[in-house]
Amino acid sequence: MAKQTTSSLDSKPLYNPPADLKSRVKASYDAIAPKYNKWTSQHSTPRLHYLNQLLSRLPTTTSSCPLTPVSVLELGCGCGLPVTQKLLSHPNFSVTANDLSSAQLALARTSLLPNPPGPAHDRLTLLEGDMLALDFPPATFDAVVAMYSIIHLPRAEQVEMLHKIVAWLKPGGWVLANFAAEELAGKEMQNWLDEDKGWMFWSGWGTEGTAEKVREVGLEVVVQDTVEDMVDVKFLWILARKSNS
Ligand SMILES: C[S@@+](CC[C@H](N)C(=O)[O-])C[C@H]1O[C@@H](n2cnc3c(N)ncnc32)[C@H](O)[C@@H]1O
Repeated sequence: MAKQTTSSLDSKPLYNPPADLKSRVKASYDAIAPKYNKWTSQHSTPRLHYLNQLLSRLPTTTSSCPLTPVSVLELGCGCGLPVTQKLLSHPNFSVTANDLSSAQLALARTSLLPNPPGPAHDRLTLLEGDMLALDFPPATFDAVVAMYSIIHLPRAEQVEMLHKIVAWLKPGGWVLANFAAEELAGKEMQNWLDEDKGWMFWSGWGTEGTAEKVREVGLEVVVQDTVEDMVDVKFLWILARKSNS
């Protein structure tokens, strides 16, 4: 593998992801979790903007049917701030939050499951591991949320992940996720956010390619926005719905 520097934004057309990709991504997030979380806290605005778009379509305590239970899966939840926390602020929501990184989940546990137990204790399940290895019965969730996380899968796996998400959603369920707006067969960086421990990987099908794949798995795209983040990188935000039938 050719060595890349932090400034390299090249993707390779015929790219094979490293076999130990997941363990390397995990090791990096385990090492840089506090640094990443501090850096990314300045990017909360788009997260909350699109989360509110999802929430406005779900039965929340502020809507007309406040007691309807809502079950949400969050993939790559990180430290749980601000997204998992906001989901849990609705007392009718139960959240299953997954992340590959034990350090991120330890931070999520501390901030979302305080001791003594708070009101969200019984409504949050934290699951450590690769999102692609998760297994749920069909039609388990009302919504699946994945912010800045599916981008860390090799892009063939992103399509597999979309198929799994559709199967796990109840009829009429929602998925909110963001993806790379740029087409990336695979992009590696040696030193993302940390000079020694920041090896990182991203990939994506680009705006049109991703939207097409979302439709191909059977979802109706309701919101499709390409937005420049504060880091000078564009992300595709998708809010999509599984049909009722
Ligand atoms: C860029 S951070 C985003 C965290 C959080 N969603 C947010 O918006 O701040 C990506 C997160 O995805 C997790 N992640 C990366 N690859 C993953 C995988 N294959 N399965 C589950 N989580 C993964 C990382 O550990 C990290 O916490």
